Amino acid sequence: MRIAAPIEIGPLDADAQQAVRDLAAAAEAHDGVAPLSEQPLLNLGTDAEWITHVVAHTTAGSTVGYVQIDRSGETASAELVIHPEHRRNGHGRVLLRTAERDATLPSRSGEPGQHGKQLRVWAHGDLEPAREFARAAGLRPVRELLFLARPLAGADGAPEVPAAPAGYRLRTFRPGADDAAWLRVNARAFATHPEQGRMSLDDLRARQAEPWFDPEGFFLLVPDEAPGVDDADPVAFQWTKTEPGQPDGARDGEIYALGVDPDQQGKGFGRLMTEVGLAHLARSGATRAVLYVEGDNTPALATYERAGFARAAVHVQYARP
Ligand SMILES: CC(C)(COP(=O)(O)OP(=O)(O)OC[C@H]1O[C@@H](n2cnc3c(N)ncnc32)[C@H](O)[C@@H]1OP(=O)(O)O)[C@@H](O)C(=O)NCCC(=O)NCCS
Repeated sequence: MRIAAPIEIGPLDADAQQAVRDLAAAAEAHDGVAPLSEQPLLNLGTDAEWITHVVAHTTAGSTVGYVQIDRSGETASAELVIHPEHRRNGHGRVLLRTAERDATLPSRSGEPGQHGKQLRVWAHGDLEPAREFARAAGLRPVRELLFLARPLAGADGAPEVPAAPAGYRLRTFRPGADDAAWLRVNARAFATHPEQGRMSLDDLRARQAEPWFDPEGFFLLVPDEAPGVDDADPVAFQWTKTEPGQPDGARDGEIYALGVDPDQQGKGFGRLMTEVGLAHLARSGATRAVLYVEGDNTPALATYERAGFARAAVHVQYARP
């Protein structure tokens, strides 16, 4: 007989947050892919009303599973992980059921926007256990996020960062001064994207406070017209990210966010800003460039394939049909 693990729903204190990070690290070591992505990890300390944390633990208190539900979008998004030593004991099923109930619950403030949302669960890496688990739970794939990669020459063989075309200027991001203008162009460029287009000032500031944040790797293409040139909204941006603490022999550098204002698309800015990102990452010592792109974003996929990227992994979102 299986005995259900006790579960706790609510904010996580510092020890519980660390236990979830340890659980995620154990799953990553076992599965070869991180089960929780950046935003849920940033959310671990959050007690926002649209975030729910659910922890399953043994009677002795050690954490065996975790699911985070984020009801801030049009659909509720969940990331779920069970410790490798505690799988096939029904914990995943219990946490999934709890997450589905949570997605349909009224928020604490009764805000109507959070009622009755469909739950979508991420499976990072699209691994066989997750596929089987989703199938057994009656879930179907509804969204694909592709992880693309291409080798880089490294600092020695790196090209110069390309120059801006006539009428434009390439400069790096100024934290604070450029926040509002960047949020505007990001929202326009990612108007149909479920997460990126909703990035708020708080989200931007949380990233600026991360150890990897480097404004020297965050490029803006701005119209080169005086006066007030620095206050004009960028027409395109390239935000790169290099995680600290990677071994120098093989380092990944990420094209973290690339966007072109919709009014300025089709002019080659996407290709230019991709080259800017690749040159910067190579010059900073990265040996592989990586990025995430929606599986149905045909124009972006074409840009990246032309730039030499190939599919390295797939992340799938599952939902009840
Ligand atoms: C996917 C995951 C959450 C499953 O957690 P779990 O606690 O092992 O799942 P459960 O024990 O509740 O399994 C429920 C059912 O799913 C199916 N299932 C789960 N893992 C399976 C596997 N490895 N192979 C075949 N079927 C599997 C079975 O039908 C199982 O029922 P059964 O054990 O009675 O046969 C876990 O493997 C995990 O943490 N993976 C890494 C993170 C991840 O991929 N999360 C996304 C989930 S969509």
